[in-house]
Amino acid sequence: MKITNLIILTLATSFAAVIGARAEGTLPPASDKTGLTYATDIKPIFDASCVKCHSGEHPKARLHMDTLAGVLKGTKEGKIVTAGDSANSFLVKSVAHVTGDSDAWMPPVHNKAGIKALTPEQIGLVRAWIDQGAK
Ligand code: HEC
Repeated sequence: MKITNLIILTLATSFAAVIGARAEGTLPPASDKTGLTYATDIKPIFDASCVKCHSGEHPKARLHMDTLAGVLKGTKEGKIVTAGDSANSFLVKSVAHVTGDSDAWMPPVHNKAGIKALTPEQIGLVRAWIDQGAK
């Protein structure tokens, strides 16, 4: 194989790997922790990463992340949690960066507050909580 072909092949493969990282199949796995509740396990995650912008009188997207009722109600556009089905819950796609639209990646990638993306472990807990019925 000519060296140029080899380079093109290498570039194409790396590109596919980058695109692939955003595919549905690459959601972090759900945690195997049982008995998860919003109050005990999930609220601390949302308090640290979401509540700055999604609480109070004028929450972004009209989404309240500081109460279970608010999270279940969703945004001005509709629900973000499908209880029992974390892989199809918009909340999970948003924090795991698997929605096609990077504007919906949360927290916003370059937010001024410097709030970082959720870790795979945190996403795993959120997934397990939703899979267990989002109680
Ligand atoms: C620094 C501010 C900020 C933080 C932190 C933040 N968001 Fe957002 N969020 C926004 C803004 C701005 C929008 C867009 C509002 C609009 O379009 O009206 C938004 C919109 C959303 C939407 C709707 C997106 C859509 O396309 O429908 C969801 C869902 C969401 N955020 C969830 C979260 C979650 C979950 C977290 C925490 C993991 C979080 N956000 C953290 C600012 C933030």
